[in-house]
Amino acid sequence: MAQHSAHQVADWNGQSGERWVAHQARLDAIAAVFGQAAIEAAAPAAGERVLDVGCGAGASSLALAARVGAGGQVLGVDISEPLIARARALAPQDTPALFRVADASSAELPEGAFDILFSRFGVMFFDDPTGAFAHMRRALKPGGRVVFVCWRDAAENDWVRLPMGAIKGIVPPTALPDPEAPGPFSFGDPGRVGRILTAAGFTDIAIAPFDASVPLGEGATRDAAIDDAVKMTFEVGPLSRVLADQPDDIRARASAAVRAAFAGRPGERSVMIDSATWIVTARNPAC
Ligand SMILES: C[S@@+](CC[C@H](N)C(=O)[O-])C[C@H]1O[C@@H](n2cnc3c(N)ncnc32)[C@H](O)[C@@H]1O
Repeated sequence: MAQHSAHQVADWNGQSGERWVAHQARLDAIAAVFGQAAIEAAAPAAGERVLDVGCGAGASSLALAARVGAGGQVLGVDISEPLIARARALAPQDTPALFRVADASSAELPEGAFDILFSRFGVMFFDDPTGAFAHMRRALKPGGRVVFVCWRDAAENDWVRLPMGAIKGIVPPTALPDPEAPGPFSFGDPGRVGRILTAAGFTDIAIAPFDASVPLGEGATRDAAIDDAVKMTFEVGPLSRVLADQPDDIRARASAAVRAAFAGRPGERSVMIDSATWIVTARNPAC
């Protein structure tokens, strides 16, 4: 595995991977609408072969497998052993989806083998995205397509904008992260995404906004749903990292502030949060 992915490998096999496994069902419920939009854009046909990059616990791989059918194949790759273990555990016996622990940016992949290179929120973590996409492109057939969904800017995504805004003045400010550093929002700038894909050799690049309101928290009552949303943001994503080393009193004040912010969002037994993504499509040149 390439040395440059060491940090991501450690994180997705450590705390992030464990927490994603713990919250897998809820995270899948949140991501489903975006994955479905990307699958519609990919339009997988019966018999096609799909590479699902950063497949995590495999929900998108299994949805793709249902579309390509027994005559097709889906290979889900991910650097996270715990998430691939969960994907294998969730996969029905007769699925044409296979799962492999591998770094998509450097793993040996069959050349010219896939019709579609797909990802649901799994391509924003490469240290060298152009090199990674150039490497993955070689696994595509000539004329094959790439389709992925990624987050737009953090300022457009209330699951991070609201809690981060709420903790201002409670948690000491930290330096703003490099917006292009590997992480959930590194593909927020469509100009950058277009430049990466062009430099990696893709053509026919299209980047379209797709927005949805998703249940960040759910519960038997509205209060339980708000607690659930707070718990989720404290355990998964950017806020969890900012709060990781904070003392208990700061965490308690932050929790109350985030709770108040989520209480302003709609939902009966849920907390519905506005989320903004790009659906990106491109093509491997035919020859
Ligand atoms: C935000 S999660 C999305 C998981 C899954 N696609 C989903 O929608 O539930 C990002 C995933 O990308 C994986 N990942 C990060 N860098 C990777 C790499 N270089 N190769 C393969 N997977 C990678 C992580 O392990 C993680 O499972």
